Amino acid sequence: MKVLVLTSGGDAPGMNMVLFQLYKRFGHNLYACRAGFKGLINNDIIPISEFKPLGKAKQAGSIIKCSRCPEFKTEAGFNQGLENAKRFDVVVVLGGNGSYKGCKQLNDNGVRTVFIPATIDNDVHISDYSLGYHTAVQACVKTIDNVMPSMDAFDRACIFEVMGRNCPRIAKGVNLGYPCDYMITSKKDIDYKKIAEIIKNNHDLGKGSAILLKERIIKNQTLIKNLNKLEPKIEIKAVTVGYTQRGSAPTDIDLEYARKFAKFAINIISHKKISGAIIYKKNKFYIINNDDEGDS
Ligand code: F6P
Repeated sequence: MKVLVLTSGGDAPGMNMVLFQLYKRFGHNLYACRAGFKGLINNDIIPISEFKPLGKAKQAGSIIKCSRCPEFKTEAGFNQGLENAKRFDVVVVLGGNGSYKGCKQLNDNGVRTVFIPATIDNDVHISDYSLGYHTAVQACVKTIDNVMPSMDAFDRACIFEVMGRNCPRIAKGVNLGYPCDYMITSKKDIDYKKIAEIIKNNHDLGKGSAILLKERIIKNQTLIKNLNKLEPKIEIKAVTVGYTQRGSAPTDIDLEYARKFAKFAINIISHKKISGAIIYKKNKFYIINNDDEGDS
């Protein structure tokens, strides 16, 4: 059996562990597209052993590379990818919602596919958990933990900007791990008067303030400028947590999720002869058929 795997969209900590588990099971029958659907379109497909998966299972990133591939959404790009995918018995796709869509489209056109949700945003609608989320949240908590003692030393405030594209789950998870003084996950949360008051109160008590900001809402410098109009004497800094969320080594929890996602994928590939997605719902792993969208 010839198995093809690709990692699509943003890389997610834990992807390499899944790749390693698949390699352990399928060995030289496992092939990889370089850089997701881009590699599928360009037929940039080689045995995964050439990416040297041994010893990399616990590293972040993806040894077989990722990409965002708008070309796969065009008819010509898709047809090219489809032709190359058809040379394999099954195609395994790791990624987010967009990648799931691409995966299903291949399946609708006669390719056997298996999907694994993997994105730090944890917003794949069919699954309660997407690989990489725990690591991303922990990376933010660690950053805030490491920065706040310095803010406290000066009674400063700090805006921590975290990833999450259009989804507030990372910010909300971070706020559980490090309860911040204020959290902004949408435009309506930008209440300058209230934030300035919190910063001022903490400052007067001899404390710093941690303000959590989800990306793509407002530039952190604009936020600082407007807050400084209300509180000109308090220093406000900004830290963009950014790519450390994707580049941090997967936590033990994500490594465990990766092993489980891989185990279920291997089972479906080897024994079930069907297409589907591996999902995690209500504390359990399931295999769902591509027509079954689960709760959205
Ligand atoms: O999809 C995961 C993610 O990290 C988002 O949280 C973020 O908005 C985006 O990717 C960044 O994408 P890129 O790496 O293409 O800049």
